Amino acid sequence: MFSEVVKSAMPDTIIYEISKDITSEEYEYIREAGSVIRRGGLVAFPTETVYGLGGDALNPAASGRIYSAKGRPSDNPLIAHIADISQLDMLAYEVPDVAMRLMKRFWPGPLTIILKKKKEVPYETTGGLDTVAVRMPDNPIALAFIREAGVPIAAPSANLSGKPSPTNAWHVRCDLYGRIDMILDGGPVNIGIESTIVDLTSELPVVLRPGYIDMNMLSEVAAGVEKDPAILGVPDKNIRPKAPGMKYRHYAPEGELTIVSGDPDRIPERINMLARRHDEADVGVITTDENRHRYDYGKVVCIGERRDELSVARSLYGALRTMDEYRIKYIYVEGFSDENLGDAIMNRLMKAAGYKIIYV
Ligand code: TXA
Ligand code: MG
Repeated sequence: MFSEVVKSAMPDTIIYEISKDITSEEYEYIREAGSVIRRGGLVAFPTETVYGLGGDALNPAASGRIYSAKGRPSDNPLIAHIADISQLDMLAYEVPDVAMRLMKRFWPGPLTIILKKKKEVPYETTGGLDTVAVRMPDNPIALAFIREAGVPIAAPSANLSGKPSPTNAWHVRCDLYGRIDMILDGGPVNIGIESTIVDLTSELPVVLRPGYIDMNMLSEVAAGVEKDPAILGVPDKNIRPKAPGMKYRHYAPEGELTIVSGDPDRIPERINMLARRHDEADVGVITTDENRHRYDYGKVVCIGERRDELSVARSLYGALRTMDEYRIKYIYVEGFSDENLGDAIMNRLMKAAGYKIIYV
């Protein structure tokens, strides 16, 4: 199959386009990316969820560079990405049965597990914690890249801190060009929101961040799964989230975002009323195919089909970035059910909106 491999002419950050079936020429670029990692450099790469910003998880200096490239507080730990379960030996001190069952069922895939760390894993990678987050991404480019690097790859999402996570290489380029060594462009991602995080370091598994792997799926292989109280609703300053990253304002567009939730049939009426209080050029609406025809004021962006929540997850962060490009000041987004993937979508929307939600 013909695939175009482009080496960017721009000086600072090398960008390689790589197709999913990885030609032999493209494989050489992945090998080069691996050597960048071994030298302590940074490479952004595609995963099935969002793009990651990778560095050697066992090299404290590399983790330090990740934090400064992102402008991220260094108490926010990184996820170590592996390509083979045997690489857990380098990271985790103890692997309980429930971890084995979850890995067998969901890896490679959008599930991150938290385990007790080995002392070889630097505190720079774990944000000072004695635990380590690990996942095996379901993307052939990511897996080849991790294998070529030969070390676990520490990678947060490849956005500037505070911006929505990148769902294609263009987003990465906008945020990190000139700040990192290389971008592997593997096209748009499949899922579009970050992995589910499950803490396995206490008696019962606790979900610290909802994602594509939902509570029902987890419960099929792990008994007694619970949600961290910190992700249940409006943050309570007395409850400290166990995933330090969940405490930051996140995924947020520049404009003021409001969620209008409830009966999907009645939402457009309310959004149209709220939108018309502002100048048309200042207003944006994020809707779905089903309701698209009901809006005709402001910048209207459609993020997929309500009955296909994966299509919504995939386009959500891109839509928030589009609103920023148009310098929209007031953004209204339709709410979703909190079942299955909708739960993760609403979690991200609530954070992006600073919990501003209107029920109709
Ligand atoms: O889908 C994903 O998980 C993406 C791709 C690139 O793999 N990565 C990602 O990383 O979303 P990041 O850094 O944006 O989010 C990692 C989250 C943060 O909320 C962090 O606090 C939490 O994982 N985390 C990492 N290590 C932890 C640990 N040892 N204990 C508790 N939470 C941890
Ligand atoms: Mg992130």
